[in-house]
Amino acid sequence: MKKIEIIKPDDWHVHFREGLFLEKLVPETSKLFNRAIVMPNLTFPIVSSNQASEYKKQLLDFSKNNEYFEPLMTLYLNEEIDIKDLIKAYENKIIFAVKLYPAGATTNSSKGVKDITKTYKILEAMCKCKIPLLIHGEVNNKEIDVFDREKVFIDNELTQICKEFPNLKITLEHITTKYAVQFVNNTKRNLKASITPHHLILNRSDMLEHTIKPHYYCLPILKREEDRKALLSAAFNTNKKFFMGTDSAPHDIKNKEADCGCAGIFNTINCIQVLAQVFENNRQLNMLENFISVNGALHYELPLNSEKIRLKKVKDPINFPNVLKINNFKIKVFKPNFKIFWQLES
Ligand code: NCD
Ligand code: ZN
Repeated sequence: MKKIEIIKPDDWHVHFREGLFLEKLVPETSKLFNRAIVMPNLTFPIVSSNQASEYKKQLLDFSKNNEYFEPLMTLYLNEEIDIKDLIKAYENKIIFAVKLYPAGATTNSSKGVKDITKTYKILEAMCKCKIPLLIHGEVNNKEIDVFDREKVFIDNELTQICKEFPNLKITLEHITTKYAVQFVNNTKRNLKASITPHHLILNRSDMLEHTIKPHYYCLPILKREEDRKALLSAAFNTNKKFFMGTDSAPHDIKNKEADCGCAGIFNTINCIQVLAQVFENNRQLNMLENFISVNGALHYELPLNSEKIRLKKVKDPINFPNVLKINNFKIKVFKPNFKIFWQLES
């Protein structure tokens, strides 16, 4: 029987939502991870330190199953952010980073950034105070094909941001293309990238061929097989520039299976087992720890967790629940297109 022991992982990108969802979702994350970067795209986005601190208190209340758990809060970048409030919140460890959503690019991003140059004063202050910038790297432009929006963002926006703010610590989040992998590999800037489990596993044909699979729909949208392969080699790379952010993004099943289905995949409850299987299938199991437990902490200059987790390979494939129920809501659990034999030991 095969067993592995690795440093306890962190989730560098998660959506907890609000209200009823928190009680169920937060403990699912906190039992698996010691830290999680929490996305600010709530119905009313987190734009001030007061909101962040209120939200953080709620998350801490629901994460008592792990005394070490630390929700790392983000502020939603827009032109109106109060720079003094931001700096104070960062110094007081209320917030950890700032999140850039191009306006309209994804769920709850309508109040995001329309013109990046109008946020330059904020980015300048972030540079000085060493506050990381997390980026949803897609342009929102009708002229640009949805499959090209990451590349165009890199060419038109990210290159500019990197040039103006060479010292800014940047995470290009949930990358989906070979182009993004090459950009990150080739840059000498303080720029790294996160990758989701589902983008390592699926390509756009998995979502679209023969029948349409709304539960594989997420943003940035799945790309070609050659892109998926490039993401895999990035995840296996020893250069430590790539790390896991689950982008676990729950939506009620009714809002996924609809005329206008929401983007987002919920993968919290099986992401570690699923990734162990992906890495093993590619004979890269020895790189799993770097990807889920080391590289992100190095990028954010945080200590590695001192706890460990153990995974055991079992004979029969593991069945995960199909849905997570929260009162009248149902959240579909990510189902990869292969069998999982790795079990997490409690
Ligand atoms: C996320 C969500 O639902 O909040 N959706 C997604 O498809 N990833 C937003 C995001 O991270 O883009
Ligand atoms: Zn996200």
